[in-house]
Amino acid sequence: MTQPFKLKIGIIGGGQLGKMLIESAKPLNVEFNILEATTDCPCYSYASTFIEGSLMDSEKIKELAAISDVITYEIEHVDVATLKELETLGKTVIPSGGILEIIQDKGRQKQFYKQHNLATAPFILSDADKAQNEDLSQFPGDKIVVKSCTGGYDGKGVSIQLKSNIKAGELNTVFKGPVVLESYVPDVTELSVIVARNRRGEIKSFPIVEMVFDPEINLVDYLFAPSNVSKNVADDANALALSAITALDGVGIFAVELFLTPNGECLINEIAPRPHNSGHHTIEANYTSQYEQLMRIMLDLPLGSTDLITPAVMTNIIGSNGVTGAYSLDGIDELMSTQGAYLHWYNKSVTKPGRKMGHFTVLDTDLKEAIKKSHFLKSKLNTVPQ
Ligand SMILES: Nc1ncnc2c1ncn2[C@@H]1O[C@H](COP(=O)(O)OP(=O)(O)OP(=O)(O)O)[C@@H](O)[C@H]1O
Ligand SMILES: [Mg+2]
Repeated sequence: MTQPFKLKIGIIGGGQLGKMLIESAKPLNVEFNILEATTDCPCYSYASTFIEGSLMDSEKIKELAAISDVITYEIEHVDVATLKELETLGKTVIPSGGILEIIQDKGRQKQFYKQHNLATAPFILSDADKAQNEDLSQFPGDKIVVKSCTGGYDGKGVSIQLKSNIKAGELNTVFKGPVVLESYVPDVTELSVIVARNRRGEIKSFPIVEMVFDPEINLVDYLFAPSNVSKNVADDANALALSAITALDGVGIFAVELFLTPNGECLINEIAPRPHNSGHHTIEANYTSQYEQLMRIMLDLPLGSTDLITPAVMTNIIGSNGVTGAYSLDGIDELMSTQGAYLHWYNKSVTKPGRKMGHFTVLDTDLKEAIKKSHFLKSKLNTVPQ
């Protein structure tokens, strides 16, 4: 017989992913402790205990662990050595520190895919200072993708460069330290498969989503599910994502970002070991959301059904250009009077251009209708100075 869920969960990071994770757990009466650098963060008002401190501060992480039964993180930039140390002392960390260590370093991550025969774009590991000496002729075309091995997020730390600029020794004006030099894959469709694996080894994937990027700021503009790919491609993408998480021996929620090339090949771009932007729509559109699924995993419960109930479109609400500081959001009335539209506002006190301020999901039995409604609502929603 299961006791009421008295578990205390410690989340490293107090951003919107943590906020949505806590929201998913409200019906289950689970308690949360949060570590974040500032009280001005989306999770602050939800925390049973809030610890103010850097996510890289070993002592603060240990303080969080001391008052929590299970530790998780909602961002990759955390002190992984401490997570590993806590595991040796018997603390449960989901996903494990060893997995985060691989993922934190894009170079190590790419090597992992190669070693496990998981399809990924060809690459070499190099350094910003040495890149001009590398043989770039092995990569087709005149462009190459350069990725900082550590420290990047939301497309920052990734840049498409001309091979000629790299050969001219100009990379170290943009990058510092170890980099991945990766074959540029033109005309890709970007897909994401969210995979859940629990402590009992049960594994399930969510239906594939297709992402549409804003080319200027390199953030997801909107995404939709189900994706438009053929059954064959969907099966391939799904199999690749499941193989990757099985190879990692992962326990937790993982977003496997994939490229679909014009000739129908699926390649792994990267894996996020946490709930992901590409799974926000699961809150309203699926039987079990990515957040509830992570809750179940932390509580050592069976996984819920990942099936999609209704087609959905998720759109990020991004801080408008030219607006920084206190703000209000225009367009709420239109959103709230649209059937099947759901707003998630992240409770950030200040906006800046490109910052994720919230998102909205539109459900409609007709995906084309949902996309149309989303475009309209996006054109109305704006962060404006207060
Ligand atoms: N080899 C490639 N060929 C073509 N485009 C690429 C390639 N690698 C990355 N990109 C583009 O750059 C984007 C960001 O790359 P990547 O996902 O590796 O970086 P990131 O900083 O981790 O981003 P995010 O946090 O937004 O997921 C990809 O979503 C894709 O649009
Ligand atoms: Mg990415």
